[in-house]
Amino acid sequence: MKGVILAGGLATRLRPLTLVTNKHLLPVYHQPMIYFPLMAMKKAGIKEVLLTTSADHAGHFANLLKAGEDFDLKLYYAVQQNPKGGISEAINLAKEFAKHEPILVLLGDNIFTFDLARAVKWYEENENKGAVVFGVHKDTESGQYGVIEVDNSGKVLSIEEKPQHPKSDIAQTGIYIYDETVFAKIAGLSSSDRGELEVTDLNNMYLTEGALSCEVIDWWVDAGTSFDELLAANKQVAEMVKKGQL
Ligand code: DAU
Repeated sequence: MKGVILAGGLATRLRPLTLVTNKHLLPVYHQPMIYFPLMAMKKAGIKEVLLTTSADHAGHFANLLKAGEDFDLKLYYAVQQNPKGGISEAINLAKEFAKHEPILVLLGDNIFTFDLARAVKWYEENENKGAVVFGVHKDTESGQYGVIEVDNSGKVLSIEEKPQHPKSDIAQTGIYIYDETVFAKIAGLSSSDRGELEVTDLNNMYLTEGALSCEVIDWWVDAGTSFDELLAANKQVAEMVKKGQL
């Protein structure tokens, strides 16, 4: 399995912090935000990672992360020409890189402690590949997240992008595993009302095929949603580092 980390977008919700600096280079306690998904990739046992970002910031990431040696990863870069083209558009940049292997996709502003190594192993041993989404119990009434509805057996019933009336309290995190059909599926997507190729539309394609599963994880923050989330992430990470949990 190969890794893909998304570090594009415009981060308008965090302006003026992000007028010059890419959101994923902002500090979260003792490290730039982008270190967290990179460490998660390493912990998951992934060896090669593609980082996608905008043309304006690609050089900043290359200066900081070089070829990935500090993380024991082989790091590659791809430029998303339209930084707001959508998560699925950014994933599509990994088509050549993936070379028919499944991919583990992490949004660059996600911080979590869940060890993905077991999920990756399970996926690789599983014959019916498909896609896996990872959810977390959250206040979904805030309208900030995709919302996953599951039945009692854990089967996914629906995923809606930032619904006004959420059907569950399970937020869709920015952690996804896809099989090689992901690129053909993205080719069939159309832009949403906000002009993006949405990850939720992509995941719904897998759901329609009966090829989507969901795992609920314990602790997760999207550090890039608001000033409050960024502040909360800083405080939580500081506490966890001091306790040796991160
Ligand atoms: O964080 C979880 C949420 O992420 C999910 O619950 C939602 O279903 C999903 O749509 C997404 O929502 P966000 O509104 O948080 O997405 P955002 O625009 O903040 O982008 C998430 C990450 O993806 C961020 O690290 C930047 C990167 N990105 C985003 C876009 C739109 C790109 O690299 N390229 C893009 O075109």
